[in-house]
Amino acid sequence: MGGFDFTKRGSFGSRLGVLAAAAGSAVGLGNIWRFPYVTGENGGGAFILVYLVIVFAIGIPVMMSELVIGRRSRRNPVGAFRILAPNKPWYWVGVMGIAGAFMIMAFYTVVAGWTLEYLYQTVIGGFQGRDSDALKQMFEGFRGESLRPALWFAVFLLATSGIVWGGVRKGIENSSKIMMPLLFILLIILCIKSLTLPGSSKGLVFLFSPDFSKITGTTVLMALGQAFFSLSIGMGTLITYGSYIPKDNNLALTSVQVSMVDLLVAILAGVAIFPAVFAFDISPKSGEALTFVVLPGIFNQMTGGMIFSFAFFTLLAIAALTSTVSVLEVIVAYLSEQLDLSRRMAIIISTAAIFIVGGATSLSSGMFKGIKLFGLNIFDLFNFTTANILLPLGGLFLVAFLGWFFPQKHTKDELSNGGTISIGYYRFFIITIKFIAPAAIALVFLNGLGII
Ligand code: PHE
Repeated sequence: MGGFDFTKRGSFGSRLGVLAAAAGSAVGLGNIWRFPYVTGENGGGAFILVYLVIVFAIGIPVMMSELVIGRRSRRNPVGAFRILAPNKPWYWVGVMGIAGAFMIMAFYTVVAGWTLEYLYQTVIGGFQGRDSDALKQMFEGFRGESLRPALWFAVFLLATSGIVWGGVRKGIENSSKIMMPLLFILLIILCIKSLTLPGSSKGLVFLFSPDFSKITGTTVLMALGQAFFSLSIGMGTLITYGSYIPKDNNLALTSVQVSMVDLLVAILAGVAIFPAVFAFDISPKSGEALTFVVLPGIFNQMTGGMIFSFAFFTLLAIAALTSTVSVLEVIVAYLSEQLDLSRRMAIIISTAAIFIVGGATSLSSGMFKGIKLFGLNIFDLFNFTTANILLPLGGLFLVAFLGWFFPQKHTKDELSNGGTISIGYYRFFIITIKFIAPAAIALVFLNGLGII
């Protein structure tokens, strides 16, 4: 150790750049693919209500904590704890984050690969004339293949590595600034189309009228996991991005802005998808297939649907890319700073490792279908354990560290930018990270896993 030149660390250029990068990490398949199907499987409105409470009460404070730890230490997640809590075991929280990053890359990049297949299908007119059953079969058929999904996965992984290779430079910052608003506009168009389908109002009822009897320990655990996953918190992504954030950035404001953008995109995705789910008579519990069946169904009903479909899957792929870049950056920052590898070597090694694990994940609904652990195939195992176990557990340790261990004067200093901006919310923040967030996470966790 010690060979890494910390004076040469990268940093984000502007306030907008910080927002674009952090929102780029947060907004992704988690919002447009995962949120709708998890909502569908967990009772709709009731789930969304719990989700909202969690984003505000736990998500934003955890995000702020990560940014504080990152900017204070100017290190990767493991290095951050090593420098802020020397000779203490806290760095294991960082290690857990690196492990989580590998697991997320392994399944998330596979789903990102599916968006490329759907882009390709758009171009060759593959959805045309198919009803929702046929679209479902098409999706399951594709997923069950071995080579094709694995190839798209590899293409997407290489694209991610390519961007990280160049450093997370202006390219991704600037393109996010254009692409994210475009994705927004397209989502709104899809919402309108979906809402005007006959029978769509059932979708709105499903989404927005909570049936409280549907709230169980599992629902709350799924909402917690979804919030952590969607906000990119609990595994050090925002420690890493925080470490690149300039000193004059208002970390609390950035956290609120990123969380609101993320929330809005998720809700819009829900409004685009559920009215169509009911109009096409698809089960809201269709799981991972949901988005990939419903959206092509909407495109089929639109004049110029092919163009919308093309634009949509392109933007979805880009939204996924700004997320995979942020996850890979965690691993690369760790390998280069802690293990003293060159940045390029770090990228090559991590890409190769992800290629192997992710390849196996991709094959888990094809060739490796029979391989199961705890009753889940590799894909489901990574998807479930990262979101519902690793990230909340990481979040619990993060807030506990900042709330109970780290000297408060440093935290105040980071949040107030050395006393230059007011932090009227501070008392509320500290109570939240000391008591409310850890207690809530611990409770939800133990209850959801059936331990209490
Ligand atoms: N937040 C991203 C999404 O919703 C996924 C992600 C999870 C990114 C964890 C980084 C860390 O798509």
